[in-house]
Amino acid sequence: MAKRVRGRTKSRARKKRAGSGSRSYVWGGLALALAVGGYLGSMTLVESPVSYSSIEEHVKYGSTGSERRIGVPYAVVRALPELCEDYLPATARGAAQGYSSLGLIEERGHDLPVGFSRRRVRGMDLVGLNCGLCHVGQVQESATSEARTFVGMPANTVDLGSLDRFVRKCVSDSRFNLDNVLEVLEAEGVEIGWLERVRLQLGEFERSRERLLRLVDQLRFLQEVPEAGPGRVDTVNATKVLLSLDSGARQDREVASVDFAAIWQQGKKARMNLYWDGSNDSMQERHLLGAIHTGAVGTADIPQVMRVRNLFEAEQPPEYPFPVREERLPRGRQVYEQYCSECHGRDGRDLSGGQVGKVTPLGQIGTDSGRLDAYTETVSEAQRTLSPDGQVSFRRFKPTAGYANIPLDGLWLRAPYLHNGSVPSLRDLLEPSERRPRRFYRGSRRYDPRRVGFVSSEPEQDGRPLFDYDTTQLGNSNRGHEGERYGTELSSVDKDSLIEYLKRF
Ligand code: HEC
Ligand code: HEC
Repeated sequence: MAKRVRGRTKSRARKKRAGSGSRSYVWGGLALALAVGGYLGSMTLVESPVSYSSIEEHVKYGSTGSERRIGVPYAVVRALPELCEDYLPATARGAAQGYSSLGLIEERGHDLPVGFSRRRVRGMDLVGLNCGLCHVGQVQESATSEARTFVGMPANTVDLGSLDRFVRKCVSDSRFNLDNVLEVLEAEGVEIGWLERVRLQLGEFERSRERLLRLVDQLRFLQEVPEAGPGRVDTVNATKVLLSLDSGARQDREVASVDFAAIWQQGKKARMNLYWDGSNDSMQERHLLGAIHTGAVGTADIPQVMRVRNLFEAEQPPEYPFPVREERLPRGRQVYEQYCSECHGRDGRDLSGGQVGKVTPLGQIGTDSGRLDAYTETVSEAQRTLSPDGQVSFRRFKPTAGYANIPLDGLWLRAPYLHNGSVPSLRDLLEPSERRPRRFYRGSRRYDPRRVGFVSSEPEQDGRPLFDYDTTQLGNSNRGHEGERYGTELSSVDKDSLIEYLKRF
C-alpha cells in the first residue's frame, strides 16, 4: 500500500484533462456510483495496515493500531510541514526542513518519518504513531559522515514537545483548510486517490481537524511541564491526562521527564523490574504499555505489537564503531567488576548480577526524585483500568521507592545518561555532580567518542536548533549516582580504563 500511494505522483491537472469530452458525464455518473459503493463498501471492509516483511521496517513504519484512535488522513500529514513551514523550528541557516527540523528521522525511499505508521481504515489512509517514534535513533560518526539509524536505541533527536507545538499552531491557523492541503500536495507531486479526495470533501477533513485538536488537548501536559526537549517525555503526566487524573505537572516536584528507553535483549530482561523506576516486572506488559504510548488506547493491534516484541526479545545492541584502546580493557574490567557489575550485570551481553533489575532506594542513589514523586499509588491503580486493545489489562505495575539497576547493554547509544538524561557523557557521569555540566545541549546525533556521548556543546546541528538543558529546572537535576560506590572517586587512569571497557557493552 505504501507503493500504491507513493507510486502515483502525477499531477491532478493532467488527470482532470483526461476526463474532459462528451463521455465525461458517463464517467462522472460511474464515478459517483463507485464513490457511493466504495464508501459503503469501505465502511465494512476489513482494515489493512501497510505491511512490511522486514521486521525492522515494521518497527520504523508499521502500524500497531493507533490510527483507529488518533489517525489523521495521510494527505493532511503530508501537507502540514509545507502548509505551516514558518511554524517549524529552524535557525537562520535553515538547513533542516520538514519533519526533520523537529528531530524526526526521514529516510530515503520513505514518504513519512520513522515513527509514523499507516493503515487503511474505512477506505481512508490514516497515519498514526508507532514504537519507532521513541525507540529508533540516529548516530553521525563525524561531521562529514552520513547518519546511521539504529532500531532499539532511544530516539535521541526526536522532540515531541516541538512536534506538538507545531501541530497545535498549524491546525489553529486559517491556512489549515482542505483547498490549501490539496494545493500543497499537488505542488509537491503527491497524488491521493479520488475516493479519499471525495471522503475528505465529505467531512473527513473537518474530522481530522477535530482529531488533531483532541490530540493536542491530550498532549497538553507537554505545555504544562517544563519543556522536556528531544529524546525525553513525561510518561507519568501523559498517563495522568489520559486517565483524567489531575495533571500534577504544576505542583512542585511532580515533573517526570524521562529519557526514551533502550529496548534490546528483552528476553534476558523479561522478569526484571524495569522502567526507570522498576515499577513493572513483566516484559509482556511493558510492550503492551508501549502501545498506549503510541496513542492506541483500546485500539491496539496486538499481533502487530507482538511482532515488535519478537524482534526485541533477542535483538542485540549495535557495536561501538570507533577504535577502543585494547590495552586498557583488562584494568577496566577489573574496576567494573569491583564496583558496578553487581548492580548492572557482568557486561553488555551477560546481564547476570545479584542486584540487576532490582531497585536502589532514592536515599542511596540520590538522583532527581520527580519521576518517583509523580508516580503515586493513585496513578498506578488507575493505570490498571487502561487497556491497549479493550481486552488485556495491566496487573504488574506498582510504585517503587527508587530507581532500577538497569542492564547497560548498548550503553554508548544511551546518552545522555541517568533516567532524566541529565548527564551528557560517560566521562561526566564519572565526575561528582558539582563537576558535571550545569547546562548543555541535547538532541545532536553527532557522536563524541572522546567523552562517550553525543556532542553537547553546540546550540544547533545542520540548521536544527538543539535543546538548552538546564539542570536547575524542575525534574532536571544531575545529582546522584556519585560517591565511591559509583566510581566518581576513582583515579583518572582508572576512569579512563573503565570508560574503554564500557564502550564494548
Ligand atoms: C512517546 C514515546 C514512546 C513510544 C511511542 C513508545 N515508547 Fe516505549 N518507552 C518510552 C519511555 C519514555 C520509556 C521509559 C518510561 C519510564 O520508565 O517512565 C519506555 C519504555 C519501554 C520499555 C521498557 C524498557 C526498559 O528496559 O525499561 C519497553 C519494553 C518499551 N518501551 C516498548 C515499547 C513498544 C513495544 C512500543 C510500541 C508498541 C513503545 N515502547 C512505544 C517511550 C515510548
Ligand atoms: C547500587 C547499585 C549501583 C551501582 C553500584 C552502580 N550503579 Fe549505575 N545505576 C544504578 C541505578 C539505580 C541507576 C539509575 C539511576 C537513575 O537513572 O536515576 C544507574 C544508572 C547508571 C547509568 C546510566 C544508564 C543510562 O541508560 O542512562 C550508567 C552509565 C551507570 N549507572 C554506570 C555505572 C558504573 C560504571 C558503575 C560502577 C562504577 C555503577 N553504575 C555503579 C545503580 C548502580
